[in-house]
Amino acid sequence: MKQVPWIAPSILAADFAKLGQEVEAVLKAGADVVHFDVMDNHYVPNLTVGPMVCQALRKYGIQAPIDVHLMVSPVDSLIPAFAQAGATYITFHPEATNHIDRTIQLIKASGCKAGLVFNPATPLNYLDYVLDQLDMILIMSVNPGFGGQSFMPEMLKKIKAARGLIDAANLPIRLEVDGGIKIDNIGAAFEAGADTFVAGSAIFETPDYQKTIESMRSKFNI
Ligand code: DX5
Ligand code: ZN
Repeated sequence: MKQVPWIAPSILAADFAKLGQEVEAVLKAGADVVHFDVMDNHYVPNLTVGPMVCQALRKYGIQAPIDVHLMVSPVDSLIPAFAQAGATYITFHPEATNHIDRTIQLIKASGCKAGLVFNPATPLNYLDYVLDQLDMILIMSVNPGFGGQSFMPEMLKKIKAARGLIDAANLPIRLEVDGGIKIDNIGAAFEAGADTFVAGSAIFETPDYQKTIESMRSKFNI
């Protein structure tokens, strides 16, 4: 079943020199969840932030859910660290771990919600035997590693396929889309079945976060 739509600004596009204020500002502007991109210069060709920064946001007073998107390999060693640092969701790429089921179990045993992330060329059949254990499915609409890339429209049919699987199983799994989401394509992603929308540059590179988030929400026909 489709969940209430969530806007998830990606901190990747925020001003890191004042991250706490930036996150506070997007939440005040109407965002629902903080998307926290973790890159290791190994699984993806870029390097960002780790559990210390997640913990710093919690210490600063951020109470909204933090959606930790792990673009790292190996995955497992970082899970307890992010759980302790205050992560709400932890999502990972199935290609990045040797034992997908074990990694999901580890996330849940750490007290977090678990999600699988699908790169543009990664098939959805990784879901076949684990769907009922998941809280989130994340469809990448760009290749992971960088913000500011263009949305791949071919991913709309993958979102539709994932929506079909979630609805057929009648499970309350969030369907998130990440990469190149803007005011002019968020409606199409919503129509295709997504309910959680990551947006980095589309929000942080505009002067008025509230106006941008409101314009995004206006595209949801509910
Ligand atoms: C890409 C990241 C995205 C990225 C989105 O690897 O997972 O979350 O920050 O940025 P935009 O919205 O600018 O494409
Ligand atoms: Zn992401």
